[in-house]
Amino acid sequence: MTPTIEVLDLQVTFLTSEGPVNAVNGVNFELYQGEILALVGESGSGKTVTSLALTQLLEAGRSQVAGSVKFGGLDLLKASQRDLRAVRATEIAYIFQDPISSLYPARTVGSQLVEILTVNAGLNAREARTRSIDLLRRVGIPGPERQMRAYPHQLSGGMCQRVMIAMALAVNPRVLIADEATSSLDVSIQAQILELIKDVASEYGMAVIFVTHDLGVVAGTADRVAVMYGGEVVESGQVRDLLRNPHHPYTQALIKSAPNARDESQTELVGIPGSLETRREFAKIRCQFAPRCSESFEICWSHWPRPVQVEKSHSVSCWLLSDEEEILATQVDEGLTS
Ligand SMILES: Nc1ncnc2c1ncn2[C@@H]1O[C@H](COP(=O)(O)OP(=O)(O)OP(=O)(O)O)[C@@H](O)[C@H]1O
Ligand SMILES: [Mg+2]
Repeated sequence: MTPTIEVLDLQVTFLTSEGPVNAVNGVNFELYQGEILALVGESGSGKTVTSLALTQLLEAGRSQVAGSVKFGGLDLLKASQRDLRAVRATEIAYIFQDPISSLYPARTVGSQLVEILTVNAGLNAREARTRSIDLLRRVGIPGPERQMRAYPHQLSGGMCQRVMIAMALAVNPRVLIADEATSSLDVSIQAQILELIKDVASEYGMAVIFVTHDLGVVAGTADRVAVMYGGEVVESGQVRDLLRNPHHPYTQALIKSAPNARDESQTELVGIPGSLETRREFAKIRCQFAPRCSESFEICWSHWPRPVQVEKSHSVSCWLLSDEEEILATQVDEGLTS
């Protein structure tokens, strides 16, 4: 099956007054139709930057993006502004964390939905209104006819998030990117919105990239997961395999710190010591997690660990998975060629 999106060696560098910040360093992943892929990792691991880079939503003068993002015959990183606008308008939709600031405060919910449907989906005003009401109903907004006339500030956070989902769904996108779309909501509303995203993804056959720092949410929502650390994917696989059989010390620590990721009865929160450092060097010269890893050894500090496949579609970038012979060969090879 051809992936809906194929990301190859994505790199993002921000040009800041203190020098370059290498936010994403060689990320690879595929996203297939109808599946929910979670990007998970702690704050600063590069999840948002990765998802924004996919359709070139990062501010151009302040960042450099390399690699490729294949989508429907286009490489989105090389596409024209015209193609990109069309893709963003109708094929790849985003829902962000803060729905209130993503909606226009001075316009009613209905007029914002109707505009999307007339401008981007080509409906006439009457069709757009009917479809808007349908969409609001579909995302669980009670009394949708009446709520068409509501302004964003008149709705709760959960209701605004539903409106955002309705807006994202309005054009029937092939891909939905939800960046911490539920983390500002209280737990019961969060669960409802997650169910909603799951339902609409399967109903519309959409592919979803679900960004979260919460592995507990991943467990109940996603099909596959890519764990990010320091701008890299350090482990990826089917959610079930990865939660049951995590290999990377970072994934293991993340699971321990997420009380409900694997085992409902586990309530102790185990923090990961140390913090994610800002990354300035561009090259893959060592394991990014080495400074915080209790199991790191010599080679982790001098060589970048390539992804190793540990089971079908489950791969891990960690030197612990290589045997002594391979490690020695890498070091010798380096000695001869440098
Ligand atoms: N505009 C920017 N200029 C400079 N550095 C940036 C910029 N945006 C993001 N970064 C840096 O890029 C790295 C990745 O940030 P990103 O926002 O993708 O993290 P995240 O995984 O989404 O975290 P969170 O869970 O907090 O949302 C961080 O080190 C961040 O400081
Ligand atoms: Mg983020």
